[in-house]
Amino acid sequence: MTTPRPSARAHERLIQRLAEQVGVPAAVSWAHAAAVTHHCVRHRLVSAPEPPNSPDSVRRVLTELASAQPDLAGFLDPQIVPLWTAPLSMDSWAELHDFWGPGDLLDDGPHRVDGYPLGDAYQALSADARKSRALCQTPPWIAKLLLELSLEPATDEVGPQNVRMTDPACGTGHILLQAFHDARVYRRRGRTPGPHLGREASIERALQTVSGCDLDPYAALLARYRLLATSASIRQGRIDQLPRTWTAQVACADSLLDRNEPLLERGRYHAVVSNPPYITVADAQQRDLIRKAYPRVAAGKFSLALPFCELMFSLATPGGHVAQLTSNSFMKREFGRRFIEEFLPEFDMRWVIDTSGAYIPGHGTPTVILVHRVRPPQGDTVITIRGAKGEPFIPEDPARGKVWTAIAEAVHTRLAMDRLKDALTSLHDVA
Ligand SMILES: C[S@@+](CC[C@H](N)C(=O)[O-])C[C@H]1O[C@@H](n2cnc3c(N)ncnc32)[C@H](O)[C@@H]1O
Repeated sequence: MTTPRPSARAHERLIQRLAEQVGVPAAVSWAHAAAVTHHCVRHRLVSAPEPPNSPDSVRRVLTELASAQPDLAGFLDPQIVPLWTAPLSMDSWAELHDFWGPGDLLDDGPHRVDGYPLGDAYQALSADARKSRALCQTPPWIAKLLLELSLEPATDEVGPQNVRMTDPACGTGHILLQAFHDARVYRRRGRTPGPHLGREASIERALQTVSGCDLDPYAALLARYRLLATSASIRQGRIDQLPRTWTAQVACADSLLDRNEPLLERGRYHAVVSNPPYITVADAQQRDLIRKAYPRVAAGKFSLALPFCELMFSLATPGGHVAQLTSNSFMKREFGRRFIEEFLPEFDMRWVIDTSGAYIPGHGTPTVILVHRVRPPQGDTVITIRGAKGEPFIPEDPARGKVWTAIAEAVHTRLAMDRLKDALTSLHDVA
């Protein structure tokens, strides 16, 4: 039986109590660092034999992580991990220790070291990440579907050795981790599998395939940690034993405005997949900068979803595949008019999936999945899945909610039909 995770309120109470001693940023930092260090010790990714039992031991494990791989050096940076400037008393430590318990709460389930619960914990602990930057984890079952509609066909087209995927609002990396696994074990459907890629080569290939950026430096660091932790665990070794040439391609950047970050090079990615932020920008100066950079879509009281959509299209190669779970507010408000009437019609829209009736934890805003290819429209068909009813009650397992199950089945039925049609066409061509 799995231990139930603490409620959102319990996370908030923990931060309030720790903050009385060290302030909110360091409270979040201590609470999450205790979880990360527990995770890496439990999965034998560092040399420390026992889970941390004091603030000093948390700092020791963070120090080891930071020196294990250059990508993880940020664990020593007080700007990213503020616990370095705010010592924690043993009383506060005891509280933190009780909160995480023996670590079951941070378990990924059998055989996996992906750190999904670590990502979820950061969202639950950091009100700042949730409110100022709209951090809201993308559940793995949604990530899987988005990738089936984008990374998979892109890989079929350009081959697993060449394909590049990015998420410009990657948060703590839920989509990246799913993409990493999909890239590692890629087999073209319906084809005889080619020679099996060895374990080392498959991990290296997956790390080279996926990349991401996020405005939140700690979320970006955590996404890097998760990619490297997963890589190390597949090799059954520690993080410091990973080849030094392997890197987790995740940067901290303002994806909308940063034109110098190499991971944001335009026209580079065969698949661009994201669950972008859809808040409106509170800061007037920032809003103006975005309006200037994205004049075609950022009109009126625009939601960030629109400039992110334009950004995603610009990151893709010509013909590249773009899949996003985004807010559907542009369909109902004035700021979406130009986007719908002038911008979107320039691109090849493949799928519009109404997910507003599905229960997606944390996503209070009604959503839609849009899938495009970055090329002029081809043919006159767009596949739509239209919602009929919402979820009758909050499903115990959201991945198996009635609405989501119906959506996933409809997508898979359609994909299976398309594959059959392609197979028949190629048979016909051979004959
Ligand atoms: C809905 S969350 C995506 C979560 C991610 N898919 C995951 O599961 O961890 C939106 C993310 O966008 C990031 N973000 C907001 N504005 C950004 C910007 N201008 N540039 C890059 N990332 C940004 C937030 O920090 C947040 O992590």
